[in-house]
Amino acid sequence: MSLKPRDRLALLTSGGDAPGMNAALRGAARVGAQLGLEIVGVEEGYVGLMAGRVVPLDVYALDEASRRGGTVLGTARSKVFPTPEGQAAARTQIVAHKIAALLVIGGNGSLTGARTLAGAATHDGNRLLVAGIPASIDNDLACTSMAIGVDTAMNTIVEACDRIFDTATAHRRTFFVEVMGRDMGYLAMTAGIAAGADCVLVREVGRSDDAIVDQVVQTMTHAYTGNTGKRRVLVLKSEGVKMDLNDLKRRVDEKMRAVVPDVDTRVTVLGHVVRGGSPTAFDRLLGARLANAAVRELMAGKTDFMAGWVGPGVTAPVVEHDPYVVAAPLDQVLADTARLHAGDSPLAQWRKRVYSEVESILEK
Ligand code: F6P
Repeated sequence: MSLKPRDRLALLTSGGDAPGMNAALRGAARVGAQLGLEIVGVEEGYVGLMAGRVVPLDVYALDEASRRGGTVLGTARSKVFPTPEGQAAARTQIVAHKIAALLVIGGNGSLTGARTLAGAATHDGNRLLVAGIPASIDNDLACTSMAIGVDTAMNTIVEACDRIFDTATAHRRTFFVEVMGRDMGYLAMTAGIAAGADCVLVREVGRSDDAIVDQVVQTMTHAYTGNTGKRRVLVLKSEGVKMDLNDLKRRVDEKMRAVVPDVDTRVTVLGHVVRGGSPTAFDRLLGARLANAAVRELMAGKTDFMAGWVGPGVTAPVVEHDPYVVAAPLDQVLADTARLHAGDSPLAQWRKRVYSEVESILEK
């Protein structure tokens, strides 16, 4: 059943914060208001939902917040919510606060939680509509090519590596840098490629600790003795690789002593530095666009879905080695580009329509 003007849409952020969550909140609030919905926020994720901490949202405050990391609503990882008591408490509050639809912005655990609430009874005898938006710096959700926060985290890592390179090069050192990503090596790998790391260690490859040590020793030996002109080595390790970084350093130092005794190694764990900070333009836009789509789908009565990012109008089959890359024939590329410039392709028309919709939403 579709939503009606003045129906209440609740926004909730949950799990690890990700830069761009505020931009998603802002997008949902602005689009929802445009559609005539009453938008409220739930504080601190499912913890706040169980306690009925439902607050009005100020669109202008969200405009300001969208430039910042974290989430103005607060977030949490609740252990109680998945229990029968937690579920019951959440359902009671959904009725008490007259919530007709719930938009959950978060990662895997958060969307698992959202799933359990889809179809819950509402105050007027209808069923709760539920949608999710992927937000996690780990990029560990399926059905979306990017989750909110990934791009910012990647840029933060690249910037940190650039700084570390300065010292590493000045001192002819090797740095072992660990980054977040939980079990996923995506963040380490993409940032490593972008930063120009010499070696990226990710869990997915499945190397033993001994093999990892050998891999690093080989990289360092090549860099410092292989006539490469290199004055530094950067090893980027994803936290999914469980080997302790200091242990790795000690074991590599032992082996390298005989090869290049004058090369020092240092350890840097970037930790939560990677998760904070002002979201990139991409993450702000991703948040806004996923929110826009999710709210409009909810308005039309769709439920139990996640708005995922694929890329508009890309229909060619993906290449064998990368599920995010298509090999489109050049003829088609050039012909479609010409239509885009002429304004008569579906993408061009879609942009034109959305630009005018956005104008009217933003001008308020
Ligand atoms: O899921 C995001 C993430 O930052 C992971 O990369 C990391 O393993 C985890 O959260 C850290 O969680 P917390 O902030 O609870 O320590």
